[in-house]
Amino acid sequence: MSRTTPPAIPDSLQQAILNHIPDQAWLKDQNSRYILVNDAFIAATGRTVKEILGHTPMEIWPEEMGQHFMETDRAVATKKKRLRYEEERPGPSGELRWYDTIKTPLIDSEGNVTGTVGISRDITDRKKMERELRESRAQLRELNAYLQTVREEERRRISRELHDELGQSLTAIQLGLESLEDRKDEAAWVDSLASLKRLTSSTISSAHKLASDLRPTILDDLGLSSALEWMLESFTARTRIKHEFHFPEGIPSFDSETSTALFRIVQESLTNVSRHSNATQVVVEFQQNENEILLSITDNGNGMDEQTLTPSNRLGLIGMRERSVMVGGQFNITSRAGAGTRIEVRIPLME
Ligand SMILES: Nc1ncnc2c1ncn2[C@@H]1O[C@H](COP(=O)(O)OP(=O)(O)O)[C@@H](O)[C@H]1O
Ligand SMILES: [Mg+2]
Repeated sequence: MSRTTPPAIPDSLQQAILNHIPDQAWLKDQNSRYILVNDAFIAATGRTVKEILGHTPMEIWPEEMGQHFMETDRAVATKKKRLRYEEERPGPSGELRWYDTIKTPLIDSEGNVTGTVGISRDITDRKKMERELRESRAQLRELNAYLQTVREEERRRISRELHDELGQSLTAIQLGLESLEDRKDEAAWVDSLASLKRLTSSTISSAHKLASDLRPTILDDLGLSSALEWMLESFTARTRIKHEFHFPEGIPSFDSETSTALFRIVQESLTNVSRHSNATQVVVEFQQNENEILLSITDNGNGMDEQTLTPSNRLGLIGMRERSVMVGGQFNITSRAGAGTRIEVRIPLME
């Protein structure tokens, strides 16, 4: 069997391969002078090949970066080991970008370091996605914890109401019934019966109220528009904040999940209006556009500043956004200090 050595690849072809790599690639001698660089590298420096070859990073990059590159070259050469690290530094157009860099020592047959090769990959987009993912996970965790607390609080309140209201009323009814057994004269009977009937009927009301707090049955019974009308009536009665409600004919009916989401979003918005806005009026409006339904809740109150608007730890606002997204919609809030707040939810119409 005969061995043939592969033909040597001409320099121009090697350069062509190098230029084909979108990452920045370079080769330096043992004194950190560039001896070979590819197009991506040249673009990143903003210099010409002539200005690069034969020069050290100190002469090419801004001082701090140049020093940093010299240090990592030295570290690779002394340890005779490949080094891989992520770094943030100015990219081709000057703005900071993230790079994943690998530097490897070139070692000859005697074990001497004759230079280094390096490759740097732009990972700014990946970094951005990682950060967004981390943030959105943190938000979900927070939202989850918040929902848990809200659920616990709700249970506590319901259990208290069950105990205090229903429990007490039923006990009173029981006592009343027992006392009837001892009553002899008819007039006292009639009296007691009347008061027991009153007590029973108010107990039924409390039971209804409790049930409708748990789940707005009115939503199932009457549909979204009537349920919201009822909510707004009692909102105005309670807060003295006037309201307008527009729900044009022909708005297609929503599925139960979407109705519930929209109902809860209006509910949370109204709570915010009464708690934070100092408004005198709120307008809740449904509009049908070409391929979507637009729900808006607009108040004429204080509004809020930019910082409050950033929803990082605003769980009411985050909750509304999550509810919108969960039913395939889009959530948007606009507000200016002193100029009121407007919340919009867009639900796309199915084909
Ligand atoms: N309609 C509004 N008018 C003025 N400020 C508002 C309004 N809605 C919300 N805000 C502001 O945004 C913040 C965040 O709201 P939210 O996430 O619902 O949390 P919370 O109501 O528990 O404070 C409120 O604390 C308030 O400062
Ligand atoms: Mg709130």
